[in-house]
Amino acid sequence: MSVNSDPAPALEVDAVVLVGGQGTRLRPLTLSAPKPMLPTAGVPFLEHLLSRIREAGMTHVILGTSYKAEVFTEYFGDGSAFGLEIEYVVENEPLGTGGAIRNVAGLLRHDTAMVFNGDVLSGVDLGEIITTHRERQAEVTLHLVKVADPRAFGCVPTDADGRVTAFLEKTENPPVDQINAGCYVFNRSVLEAIPAGRVVSVERETFPGLLAAGAGVYGHVDDTYWLDLGTPAAFVKGSTDLVLGTAPTAALPGPVGAFLALDGAKIEPDAVVDGGTTLGRDVQVAGGATITGSVVFDGALIGTGARIENSIIGAGAQIGDDTVIVDAVIGDRAVIGARCELRHGARVWPDVELAEAAVRFSAEA
Ligand code: GTP
Repeated sequence: MSVNSDPAPALEVDAVVLVGGQGTRLRPLTLSAPKPMLPTAGVPFLEHLLSRIREAGMTHVILGTSYKAEVFTEYFGDGSAFGLEIEYVVENEPLGTGGAIRNVAGLLRHDTAMVFNGDVLSGVDLGEIITTHRERQAEVTLHLVKVADPRAFGCVPTDADGRVTAFLEKTENPPVDQINAGCYVFNRSVLEAIPAGRVVSVERETFPGLLAAGAGVYGHVDDTYWLDLGTPAAFVKGSTDLVLGTAPTAALPGPVGAFLALDGAKIEPDAVVDGGTTLGRDVQVAGGATITGSVVFDGALIGTGARIENSIIGAGAQIGDDTVIVDAVIGDRAVIGARCELRHGARVWPDVELAEAAVRFSAEA
């Protein structure tokens, strides 16, 4: 991320990012790296989020870690290389989202904290959420985003003043199209009132409890870009949107365009790479190969005539000649023989070797 860009004036708000989850839905990729550290448009996903936090004028960041905590410290250190001051709180046993928020209380420097799920890509103006929080004199303000199909999410209705009236479970007929976007502003006193030292879900326990107690819980509603990168399909979409410039970031390691190729990546002249694909360091794409809307991690080799769409290819994986991979995840170092066909959410575990034409989704061999 560029440290030279001018951030907004200091906000007097601590940023807290929850990054302790196991990322089970993104296995096998999350067996070796926590979800927020997976390479997304060329850098760990968290770097994009941190670039937006810094741009908004927050410089003190606390990462609530648990699963593979050391991977974060090794990469981000004290944050100075990113123009930030980063501190870490490690949960030996994951405390859930609410427990993780409570767990950072001792490191807060301000009376207001902005809490982020570490796997959400969003275009919302962070400063405006803080403004809503202050104007409403709220105790907690949630970023609520309007989505085209709210049925897959619990929805959060608000009244005319923006006050949250309920937290509703998923239903086939949601009464409103606004959902919890995974970004919250907390007054310090409310954060400190979350029970310490035990598992707490902020979504299922803390927020409904605050509402029942009559606390000032408000929503900041918007309809800008929003994506939770929890599944392979969403992860691929988020990465390609960052490369194409549809999703905002100040951390893209190259110009916005049809694809992003990191140092040492080599594309033979008659191969096609597009749709916001990222090619990691030293990736080699052989002649006649087509890679569309995908994420190829460092050192992967793509064979002659191979076709890859909407897929993630793990670090050091090898894809054989004329193999087709659509909507699939290939683990690190896996070797996929020639003329295989993997589709429909197929996941290949790291180091697996598939022989030539060993797996197909169509009859012709
Ligand atoms: P799945 O296992 O695939 O559901 O992913 P996840 O473990 O990341 O869970 P989820 O997507 O619901 O988590 C939302 C955000 O909260 C992610 O950024 C997680 O890293 C984070 N998170 C979830 N549980 C915990 C926890 O117990 N402690 C901490 N520190 N963070 C958590």
